[in-house]
Amino acid sequence: MKNTIKTTFASAFEEDVYKGLTNHPKYLFSKYIYDKRGDKLFQDIMNLPEYYLTNCEYNILKNHAEEIAGAFNATDGLDLIELGAGDGKKTKVLLRYLVENNMDFEYLPIDISQNALEELETSLKNEIPQLKVKIQQGTYFQILEKLADFNSRKKVIMMLGSNIGNLLHQDAIDFLKHIRAAMSPEDMLFMGFDQKKHPQTIQDAYNDKTGVTEAFNKNLLIRINSELKANFEPDAFMHWETYNPETGTAKSFLVSQKEQEVKIGELGLNVHFDAWETIHTEISQKYDDQVVGWLAEQSGLKVTDAFTDEKGYYKNYIFRNNQ
Ligand code: AVI
Repeated sequence: MKNTIKTTFASAFEEDVYKGLTNHPKYLFSKYIYDKRGDKLFQDIMNLPEYYLTNCEYNILKNHAEEIAGAFNATDGLDLIELGAGDGKKTKVLLRYLVENNMDFEYLPIDISQNALEELETSLKNEIPQLKVKIQQGTYFQILEKLADFNSRKKVIMMLGSNIGNLLHQDAIDFLKHIRAAMSPEDMLFMGFDQKKHPQTIQDAYNDKTGVTEAFNKNLLIRINSELKANFEPDAFMHWETYNPETGTAKSFLVSQKEQEVKIGELGLNVHFDAWETIHTEISQKYDDQVVGWLAEQSGLKVTDAFTDEKGYYKNYIFRNNQ
């Protein structure tokens, strides 16, 4: 069947899937992995022995809580705004420390998932009852718009999990520029960046033996099947991970293991795959101080502090507005 060119779409998801699968080479955006099943698979990834990022950041927050709290400290109190809070597992270590040390602050977790936020709010009420929490639901873009509204006292904007690594450098700079625009001179940005390390360690983190990361990537196909009436056979694709130690970029692909045709009903689209043709699904950028310094400079920020784990696998940086 010949495809007619489609120009109107019912949703951004439809448009992005259409554009990605009619492109050469094919791609899909990793943000679409995260539906209910994708969220659960990501939770499973964070518990994998190969996925060192979570433990490293947890240890940094635990072992450097005193120094981090010292850097945050504000005489007139502060708003601690977390972008993409998720289940808050790592953040709780720091929150507990701040509460126990009588810091005057309010915690404002922001996430796209209202469900995740409500669960976080309930667990915080049980685990740290003295904590002042105000949940905020929204996309990153809406969040950035909202950030400038928090200007009555010092704010610390926090983004953990090396989530910035899922953006290409230029997109990361644009994102950081937006954050900087909402930062007054006393405000801070506290952000996690996974570091360059032995390439095999990185490769293994994204290619676990139990196949959870494979299932996580293939969730894109399952989601397209259920939401856009498609007939992808997930088993006809294999997960493939590459890591380039020169650029620090880990890339995930789904590779078609045979020549095949996939029908996407809602898009009126038939997608042809040659044997071994790829769909690029995700980048997970790895950094060093030089690259982080460059991103900061390009975004009008400056690095004022950094904390790392025993192995130096991961770093949390503090940035201030440099303009
Ligand atoms: C959310 N993000 C930072 C994760 C990462 O490491 O790129 C997503 C992930 N993909 C595969 N494993 C984890």
